[in-house]
This record gives sequence, C-alpha cells and structure tokens, in this order.
Amino acid sequence: MATLTELLHEGRALLEEHSPSADLDARVLLAHVLGRSETWLRTWPEHRPGREEAGRYRALLRHRARGCPVAYLTGEREFFGHSFRVSEAVLIPRPETELLVEAVLERLPGENAARVADLGTGSGAIAVSLALARPQWTVLATDESDEALELARVNARALGAGNVSLSRTHWCADLPGDLDAVVSNPPYVAEGDPHLKEGDVRFEPRAALTAGPEGLDALRAIVEQAPAHLVPGGLLALEHGYDQGEAVRALMHEAGLAAIETLRDLAGHERVTAGCR
Ligand SMILES: C[S@@+](CC[C@H](N)C(=O)[O-])C[C@H]1O[C@@H](n2cnc3c(N)ncnc32)[C@H](O)[C@@H]1O
Repeated sequence: MATLTELLHEGRALLEEHSPSADLDARVLLAHVLGRSETWLRTWPEHRPGREEAGRYRALLRHRARGCPVAYLTGEREFFGHSFRVSEAVLIPRPETELLVEAVLERLPGENAARVADLGTGSGAIAVSLALARPQWTVLATDESDEALELARVNARALGAGNVSLSRTHWCADLPGDLDAVVSNPPYVAEGDPHLKEGDVRFEPRAALTAGPEGLDALRAIVEQAPAHLVPGGLLALEHGYDQGEAVRALMHEAGLAAIETLRDLAGHERVTAGCR
C-alpha cells in the first residue's frame, strides 16, 4: 500500500503534462477522497490509505488527466469564503467574480433593507454571497436552467441563506419593478473564441459561456431591460470580458444610466461596470 507522499508523487507525475497545476490538483483530489484537509496530508506523509481510497483517487486522476476540471471532480468550489456545490450544469465560480460581489456591497448601504436580483445565478455564488453578507436584503436568483436553479437552491439552503428566492426567468422578464440593484455575471465569451477549446471551459455549459458573435448579446439585453426594473438611483452592476469595458459603458450610457464606473480585477483587467438609474 502506497504512502500519501508516494500517491501525491504518482498524481503529480500523471498530471504534469495535462494540467498547469498538477501538484495542487493531486493534493486537492487526494484530500477530497480521504475527507481530510491538505494540511492533514502534509502532517501525515507516511499514512497509507486503503485500497479502495487509493483506487478512487487514481480514478479521479485519470478524469483530471482527460481535462475534467477539479471542481467538477470534487463537486465543490470556494467563493467569497463559502463552499459551493458545483456540477457540470453550472459555471465554476471564478475568483474575479468576487469583485462584482464587493462592488455591490460597497455601493448599497449595509444597514438598509434592499431588494436585489442576481440574473443567471448558476450555482448561486453571487446571490448567496450577497444574501449572507446582508441578511436584511431579499435576493432573487434567476436562471434559464432548471438544473442551475436546483443547485442554487441546494447551496442557499446548505449555507443558510434563507433570504434567497429563486425564479426561472429569461433575463429581466418577470422581474419585479422595484429593485434596488440588478447584478449579473452573464455569458460574455464570443461564440468563435478559440479559448473555448482549451482547459476547464471545454467542460462548462455553453449557455453559461457564450453570447453571440462578439459575446455582447446577454450584456446588451440586460442593460436594455434592467433599468425599467430599478428604483430611481438603483444599481446595475455587471461582470464582463477584459476587453468589453468600453462597450458596456457605452450601452449603459445609451440606456440613460448615470455614475458609470468600471473596476479592474487583480490582474488589472477591466472586469466589472456599474451604473445607476
Ligand atoms: C457566466 S454564468 C454565471 C453563473 C454564476 N452567476 C457565477 O457567476 O458563477 C451565466 C449564467 O447565465 C445563465 N443564462 C444564460 N442565458 C440566460 C438567460 N437568457 N436568462 C437567464 N439566465 C441565463 C446560464 O444558465 C448561466 O448559469
């Protein structure tokens, strides 16, 4: 029976040519199979897992070597300090999307009750993070995908976000008319983008990624529709591609929004644009 050190070495060697993060992937997958933390793995390098556990680890390594994202293999991903269940029905929440959550929390006064909608909620990462940070808010999470809504429901319940409600809706159709904020990380990749053939995105749902020839169709629809559902002064905050800031600012300007501002992510890319009705 192999030790943890040997299993990790085996994992790294297998994944080296398939993943840019072979070492981390092997540690996360082994920790997941054993139901332990990565710190535990480091503390007990001579521990020898049983045959069944080693077999499950090796099976996950083979899936990873074929490209399957680690988050789909473990069924979870950390976002804004919370652990979200994920499946192949939803986008894996990205670290840069935390900027969108922060932008909304900064712009809406914390102590007031507010009604906020998260359009295209996927796993519920944005809606649930906002709801947990602001228990006095009511957060409506919408998506076109029933599977995504079911997963968002599971996450809201597991994380104790009782102030999240869910609705199957095509962007702003059926939204209430008195929202304090509309927030969305919609699909924004151009349909022919070569990156769609690389890495983890190959396994993610196309409906969560692409939006027309320039990737702007969903952003355009939301900017056109959302202001009618906002109270005067209400906030529209959107994530977009690194090269779409100018286009989104122009769309918001055309829609009559004020105080339009674009924020940069940690890599220095324009990533979130917000405006007020
Ligand atoms: C980029 S993913 C974002 C998921 C999640 N909000 C996040 O940030 O991790 C976009 C989501 O929009 C949903 N979507 C696509 N078209 C939609 C539409 N017309 N109306 C509502 N949701 C839509 C997809 O199902 C997907 O869950």
